[in-house]
Formats: sequence, C-alpha cells, structure tokens
Amino acid sequence: MNFMHRIVAKTQLSPNVTRLDVEAPRIAEIRQAGQFVIVRRGEGAERIPLTIADGDPATGTITLVIQAVGKSTRELVALEPEEAIMDIAGPLGHPTMLIDAGRALCIGGGVGTAVVHPIAQALHRRGVSVLSIIGGRSREWVIFEEELRRLGEVTVCTDDGSYGRHGFVTDAAKDALAASKIDVVYAVGPVPMMRAVVNLTRPLSVRTIVSLNPVMVDGTGMCGGCRVAVGGETKFACVDGPEFDGHLVDFDLLMDRLTTYREFEQQALAACEEAECRVGLGPTPAGAHPGSAPRVTIASLQ
Ligand SMILES: Cc1cc2nc3c(=O)[nH]c(=O)nc-3n(C[C@H](O)[C@H](O)[C@H](O)COP(=O)(O)OP(=O)(O)OC[C@H]3O[C@@H](n4cnc5c(N)ncnc54)[C@H](O)[C@@H]3O)c2cc1C
Ligand code: FES
Repeated sequence: MNFMHRIVAKTQLSPNVTRLDVEAPRIAEIRQAGQFVIVRRGEGAERIPLTIADGDPATGTITLVIQAVGKSTRELVALEPEEAIMDIAGPLGHPTMLIDAGRALCIGGGVGTAVVHPIAQALHRRGVSVLSIIGGRSREWVIFEEELRRLGEVTVCTDDGSYGRHGFVTDAAKDALAASKIDVVYAVGPVPMMRAVVNLTRPLSVRTIVSLNPVMVDGTGMCGGCRVAVGGETKFACVDGPEFDGHLVDFDLLMDRLTTYREFEQQALAACEEAECRVGLGPTPAGAHPGSAPRVTIASLQ
C-alpha cells in the first residue's frame, strides 16, 4: 500500500535550492538530528536520500531542502503544493552525536547548511552555545541564515564578497577556532569543504563530525552502494552513518565513488532536459516514468 505525502508548502531558497514542507506525521514525531529519508517521487522513480532539515509534530510535516542537481531532484522540485510524493521512508541513519554542554561550531556549505540546521537546533535545545558559519557562492545562494540566527551567532561567507565575509567558510572557521575554545565541529557540505575543515581541526585535536553523501540506493545496508572507509574499516553510510568522525574518513575514496556514475547521471539529465522535464505535463509511454532514462541499478552499484 502506498501512502502519498502531500506537499503543503514550497519555497525557493536559492537559484537551485527548494524547500518542500511535506506531510509525514510519523517521521515528524520521531525524527532526530542527523537523520534522513529516502524519497521516491512516483512509480518507477529513483530513490534518493534527503536529510530531514526540520520537522513539526504538531502539523505532521517534515522539511526537505533539495538542491536540483540531476534528474530526480529536478523532478522533485517541479512538484507544487497539493501534489504528493509517493514514498518517504525513514527516519534512517544514526542520530547526530551531540554534546551536552560547551561550544559547538556548525559549518554549512551550500545545501549542507540545511543539513547542519537540525544539528544546530538539537544542540541549542540542550543549552550548547552554537556558532554557525555558512557559505554560498554569492548572496542569493546563502540559505537558512534566519533559521540559524534563532539558534546562535552566525557568520555568513560568500565566495564573491557580495554578502557577509568575503571568502570560504574555512577561512572564517580558522579564525573562529583561534578566537575561542570550540568543543566540537559539525561540518556538512561539498566533499572538498569537509576535507578542508578536517585538515584545519586535526592539528588542533578538535573533534569533527562530517555528514557523508555517497550514492545510496536501498538505505538499509543491503546493496553496498554507500560504502565508505572510516578509520581503515568499511562502513555503510546509510546504517553506520551518515555522520562520521571526519578525522578518520577516507575522502579520496569518497570522491572516487561519487564520480563513478557520472556518465549515467549525465545521460539521465540530458534525457530529462531533452524531454524538457515534462513531469506530469504530457503522456508518458506505458510503464515508463516521465523523463525516464538509463538508471543506475542496484547491481551496477556493487
Ligand atoms: C544521507 C544523505 C543525505 C542527503 N541530503 C540531501 C539534502 O538534504 N538535500 C539535497 O539536495 N541533497 C541531499 N543529498 C544528495 C542527494 O541525495 C543527491 O543530490 C540526489 O540523489 C541526486 O539525484 P539526481 O538524480 O537529481 O542527480 P544525479 O544526476 O543522479 O546525481 C548528481 C549527483 O548526486 C549524487 N547522487 C546521485 N544519486 C544519488 C543517490 N541515490 N544517493 C546519494 N547521492 C546521489 C552523486 O554525487 C551525483 O554525482 C543527500 C545524500 C545523502 C547520502
Ligand atoms: S544504501 Fe547503504 S547499503 Fe545500500
């Protein structure tokens, strides 16, 4: 049986990042910081992991913040309020390891800022002092600033200096680490950013948690798609993570695995663009998902 999840609100946060507030009462009730869901837009669609950026048990909704990077994410952000997502499985993954007191530095790059938000929220609820450093290419790419300001001090960085501090989040992080005692760092964003943060904190021996984003398929530890190496051991990000001790993560392997399916992804995106992403706009061949194209299968991920 499928339970459709109605979209109750849609907000454009930046040129390619969209917020969807979606009905998912059970998940809204039990989700914890750091957890994610696996979403399938409709019959035949790919399953994609998305962090639960926020949730409200009172309204029974969860917040998904989606960066449109390929076929499936574009199809999701094309949905409008009152339309529905077919499947949302979760909450999945281990909740964030939170400290109980002290000062935490939360660093978010791009859509990673929405992923770091529930962590900052949970820390704030515990009485931890939260300093957030968030970044984007330019002003229009900065997201979740207001939400994070409700939880503590925020430094905004833009690559072009159009808003906040000119430069990367790592520049501001370096200063923050030098200026005051930081008990733990949470960093979420592009792999090079997380690696740069880890390189900053390692010599200072400041514990650093990163959220990894390998390709996931089933989200249950069965397919092996999300394999990562942490401290020389193989881990599955969906069931062992997605958050890990950044000082132990093999970022080279992660980068390598993230680019493995680029050709398939580009083909899928090209087919989607060719069909002008006609999601729900026209007739689709029997049995095919709108804009369907070569898809990564579970077997090809192993
Ligand atoms: C635990 C976790 C939480 C995530 N949370 C968010 C979030 O809150 N917001 C957000 O915008 N994105 C999030 N992502 C990334 C998101 O899942 C991918 O961007 C999405 O699956 C891309 O699908 P696509 O078809 O649009 O793009 P594609 O063209 O298929 O792929 C574009 C890139 O996305 C990544 N990707 C592709 N398929 C998957 C997959 N099945 N699983 C994971 N990564 C994939 C790859 O790096 C790929 O190069 C998260 C990923 C993980 C693992
Ligand atoms: S997605 Fe983690 S093992 Fe399949």
